[in-house]
Amino acid sequence: MGLLAIPTGELFAASGVIRPGDSWLDNHGQRIQAHGGGVTVWKGTYYWFGEDRSQANDPNKRYVACYSSRDLVHWKFRGQVLALTDPELLGPHWVLERPKVYANARTGKFVMYAHLDDAHYKFAHVMIAVSNRIVGPYSYVKTFRPLDEESRDIGQFVDDDGSAYLIFESRPTKGFFIAQLTDDLMSVEKTCFIQAPLEGGALVHVGGLYYVVGSHMTGWRPNPNVYATAPALTGPWTEFKSLAPPEADNYDSQSTMLVKVTGSRKTTVIFMGDLWRPKALWDSRYFWMPLEIDNGSMQLPPPQPWILNVKTGESAMRTNAK
Ligand code: GAL
Repeated sequence: MGLLAIPTGELFAASGVIRPGDSWLDNHGQRIQAHGGGVTVWKGTYYWFGEDRSQANDPNKRYVACYSSRDLVHWKFRGQVLALTDPELLGPHWVLERPKVYANARTGKFVMYAHLDDAHYKFAHVMIAVSNRIVGPYSYVKTFRPLDEESRDIGQFVDDDGSAYLIFESRPTKGFFIAQLTDDLMSVEKTCFIQAPLEGGALVHVGGLYYVVGSHMTGWRPNPNVYATAPALTGPWTEFKSLAPPEADNYDSQSTMLVKVTGSRKTTVIFMGDLWRPKALWDSRYFWMPLEIDNGSMQLPPPQPWILNVKTGESAMRTNAK
């Protein structure tokens, strides 16, 4: 879907090249620091939030950076929108990961969710921070266990009707939850539990089907990410299948979100993933590729430069792009 073998001149004219695995620079020429991130659409602009692992950061704080873009290729740094000091006294090496921001169109408020944990990943909570502006600054509000369950990796999904969901992995139940956010976005209600121990959860609604994607639990090490489909979020869900040839280990990437770009001609769904470098997290890279989706099947192509036109929704491989 949305993939063309030979891009048209028009497609080239209004697009930019995405190069998975390269260092992706912002408008200041700095590496984008938005790992384990998510993209929020607000008033025609895309906002990319993620873990800011810059080497210059204060080691006692955890940071979320924000970037904005009109084309999903060129990103403007909007600042470290959260700079948090250990809010629950979790101790050295405490963890704030996979931040995601939801917009409340009714109130114009913005709510950030993130995985909050101690160094041993035993705390297993989510935290919430809020702002009146999408570009922050965000203020810490509270931490909790969604549905009173342990929660580690989180994912974000907003359906076509605007309803918002938190996906969270829950180890004791050996699976993950899809939970709709309440109207004020400050809490969640159960929508579905999927009995599959997967993390890096992501969802997209396209062509009348829901596709859920996740990775196996191998920490920072890559593994074959998998997907399942259902006609409704409540299921029934199919068995999980590999997104790419299993021996490719998802081309070393891990899912963080699926971004749907609906244009005037086509719809492209972007697999937004991380190429983690655990010993130098600040140097972790991004793996964005357009998915091949066809009536219940979803395939992740091998990494290569590609172009995207957000206006038409078209994408194409750009072989030999420099
Ligand atoms: C991964 C997870 C990352 C991070 C890492 C720590 O499984 O997806 O967000 O928590 O483990 O080992």
